Amino acid sequence: MTNNIEHVLEETRKFDPSEDFVAHSHLKSRADYDELYSKSISDPDAFWGDVARELHWFKPWDRVLNADNAPFFKWFEGATTNISYNCLDRHLSTPRKNKAAIIWEGEPGDQRTLTYHQLHREVCKAANAFKGLGLERGDRVAIYMPMIPELAIAMLACARIGAVHSIIFGGFSANAIVDRVQDASCKMIVTADGGHRRGAVSALKPTVDEALPNCPTVETVVVVRRGGNEIAMQEGRDHWWHDVVGPASAVCPAEELDAEHPLYILYTSGSTGKPKGILHSTGGYMVGTYMTSKYVFDLHEDDTYWCTADIGWVTGHSYIVYGILANGATSLMYEGTPNSPNEGRFWEIIEKYGVNIFYTAPTAIRTFIRWGDEWPNKYDLSSLRLLGTVGEPINPEAWMWYHRVIGKERCPIVDTWWQTETGAIMITTLPGAMYTKPGSAGLPFFGVKAAVVTEEGEEVDGMHSGLLVIQGPWPAMLRTLYGDDDRYVDVFWSKFKERGWYLTGDGAFRDKNGYFMIIGRLDDVINVSGHRLGTMEIESALVSSDLVAEAAVVGYPHEIKGQGICAFVSVPKGITPTEADVQKLRDHVAKEIGPIAKPDQIRFTDALPKTRSGKIMRRLLRDIAAGKETTGDTTTLEDFSVLAALREESED
Ligand code: WTA
Repeated sequence: MTNNIEHVLEETRKFDPSEDFVAHSHLKSRADYDELYSKSISDPDAFWGDVARELHWFKPWDRVLNADNAPFFKWFEGATTNISYNCLDRHLSTPRKNKAAIIWEGEPGDQRTLTYHQLHREVCKAANAFKGLGLERGDRVAIYMPMIPELAIAMLACARIGAVHSIIFGGFSANAIVDRVQDASCKMIVTADGGHRRGAVSALKPTVDEALPNCPTVETVVVVRRGGNEIAMQEGRDHWWHDVVGPASAVCPAEELDAEHPLYILYTSGSTGKPKGILHSTGGYMVGTYMTSKYVFDLHEDDTYWCTADIGWVTGHSYIVYGILANGATSLMYEGTPNSPNEGRFWEIIEKYGVNIFYTAPTAIRTFIRWGDEWPNKYDLSSLRLLGTVGEPINPEAWMWYHRVIGKERCPIVDTWWQTETGAIMITTLPGAMYTKPGSAGLPFFGVKAAVVTEEGEEVDGMHSGLLVIQGPWPAMLRTLYGDDDRYVDVFWSKFKERGWYLTGDGAFRDKNGYFMIIGRLDDVINVSGHRLGTMEIESALVSSDLVAEAAVVGYPHEIKGQGICAFVSVPKGITPTEADVQKLRDHVAKEIGPIAKPDQIRFTDALPKTRSGKIMRRLLRDIAAGKETTGDTTTLEDFSVLAALREESED
């Protein structure tokens, strides 16, 4: 970590946007940004009120922000609106009516385009079908789907009738579905038979079937036919999408919902216990994602925008669906993986659809580098005008490659820092208004009071890293953890309680020009390929196996994934682990959580190194995991006794 800081501090390369870019961008200078930023801070009510008036409200608000019961903030209090209306109906009386809302490409190469008018009809039909199946305002719906248009349609249909969606990433296991469905008492699950990934059909409904016996609140399952794989349908409970949505009426007025009506729950890993259900509400989230989409991606009427994230993560919620469609832009959606049928797939899609704005993750960029420049070089990427990254720190080397090989030194890169909790982008450069710097996220977005502070809350100067905090509320912020207000207060607002600051869990520092550089998580969360995984979650998955007495999981630097997962495992007395056990444990974790949580390294030990007070010496384990590559001989029992004694004094 220290090396990383030194490395970035040495970074002196700066890139101004081209004159051509600035000529067409919403914001054209640092002065434009400064003016709007200072207005957003000095008079947030006026600022956010003006932004909100660009959208549709059935009834206007009485108050922009109610902070009386902080940190349970209310935005646009008293107003009613509907985000589905703002993403769809609002555009139908404009020339956007038959503009492409979603351009979709399936992995096998099939394609579909839904104009705003068509998407509106599909959403209304789905909403009517859901209502017909007994779904009501406030009910929770789990969505476990491949990246197909019906995923976006299901989200917008829920939002339209005030049902709360909880999307579960398609790579999660049956157990992970059970946890999430139970926590939110979901009444319905929307899924598909399967989707296409890596040239094959990856089944989804069978995983739902495995979860269902433990999901007593689920009354109905709606299944989209996509994979064509054989599945079981239970009479009375399971319905094909085409049977219920197909014949439904295309007339379904959007419900007038309170601005604070819950929109969705999205589970994410924290440093302790089970995943937390991040709860977002309607009005503030809508305004925040709308505004950030417009300015960070500099969206214009003729842009084709592509975010490669899966909608199962927050990036897809905010920047494939809600924020992008609220702007009336064209959002491209791709079902599959970047190397199917070959490593040129993404670049082929950019050429084929003339993509202008491309938003992806550093882990993907590092993978592209490994695959070689010849893949992007085969395609015409001249339509691109803006690039973005999200999810994890980007190393300057990967940034430069992105800039050179994909952006042809022509496209600004926005490195956007935010979280599931923040709902919308918080720190970034605004592409026409300021220079970019490799490895540096940039400046706070409008209304965001970001700071780097010590444990005691003192601002740190540029040479030192500290805790990244947000010093007050913002519209797209989470409202609570579903069903657990106390934990919400405790995790995010208790450290700097007196001052009312939000603790991000990330470390950062600022350069002399105020640009933020994000170092990464300071808590026990590992960021694997931009996906958050709690070490505790993986540990409890491991200890549920008979082969494991105790487990400690740490992250270590990984060339492609950013961080890899290393599990130190002590076995019960009398057991001598074999190479086959390594595979067994990896499969066990995949079954408990999902393949993304499979440890890259499993190291067996007689006992875990602990301090005298019994705390596992994680720093020591992190050093060991970082220092040694997997040798293949992972079954050797490690003896920590000497090391532990040596290191004991210095441990936290
Ligand atoms: C990390 C994803 C560095 C960070 C939108 C944060 C980043 C966590 C960046 C949230 C970035 C996200 N630079 N780190 N541009 N963006 N992160 O909830 O550690 O999946 O706390 O939201 O990802 O991950 P989440």
